Amino acid sequence: NPKKPLKIMISGAPASGKGTQCELITSKYDLVHVAAGDLLRAEVAAGSENGKQAKEYMEKGQLVPDKIVVMMVKDRLSQPDSNEKGWLLDGYPRSSSQATALQAFGFQPDLFILLEVPEEILVDRVVGRRLDPVTGRIYHLTYSPPETEEIAARLTQRFDDTEERVKLRLQTHNQNVESVLSLFEDITVKVDGSLPKEDVFAKIDSALSNLIEQKNTTMLAT
Ligand code: AP5
Repeated sequence: NPKKPLKIMISGAPASGKGTQCELITSKYDLVHVAAGDLLRAEVAAGSENGKQAKEYMEKGQLVPDKIVVMMVKDRLSQPDSNEKGWLLDGYPRSSSQATALQAFGFQPDLFILLEVPEEILVDRVVGRRLDPVTGRIYHLTYSPPETEEIAARLTQRFDDTEERVKLRLQTHNQNVESVLSLFEDITVKVDGSLPKEDVFAKIDSALSNLIEQKNTTMLAT
């Protein structure tokens, strides 16, 4: 029973729930989660030359230049695990040049998921977001509180998660989203990301099962 690995992109405004949905998607579908923001934060934490440069842009809520981001993502997608299991690309591409660069390397998604969330909800989500450095899990003080006192005590906040900075990140997102969307129109599924996370996942889950069915049918036909 040979399977074609899934190749998915997930996009949306800052704090629209990309990372949260990726946790749910990977636990069911076992795809390799490749998050551009996480790869960049790892470079920043490692203190590499790319990391130092990237941090300047991230602090201003601007896009990190292609010369850093494109190869970083391309290298991760080229690893054997991404190829074997399939991938879930989170927060990339954020511009048409990033999209074209990836296509030139032969990476073509099956599905482009766009999470739609009204702006007034986003700030609230960012300000209450906390991360568990031990498990990497995403929490929210109100919507997804930590399960135990022990976890609560070790939670951290991202350096760009202030109200002021999220507004800048949102501006950058709004400037670029249309140009990226127009390139993936025929494979885009728009999902209402303002619903509770389980309901958002139910929509994504059904889009993914349809896709798998479709892929299997085309395989039998060829
Ligand atoms: P990145 O790390 O990608 O940040 P972002 O796009 O701003 O998105 P977030 O990670 O903030 O949010 P999310 O959508 O994952 O939401 P989450 O699930 O955590 O990028 C950071 C920076 O890196 C950029 O500004 C840029 O500088 C740079 N960068 C990244 N990619 C780049 C690229 N391709 N090119 C150039 N530069 C790049 O959820 C948020 C909160 O809400 C959590 O607390 C969560 O618990 C809660 N929540 C989630 N879903 C729900 C729900 N349904 N209901 C209630 N609460 C919810």
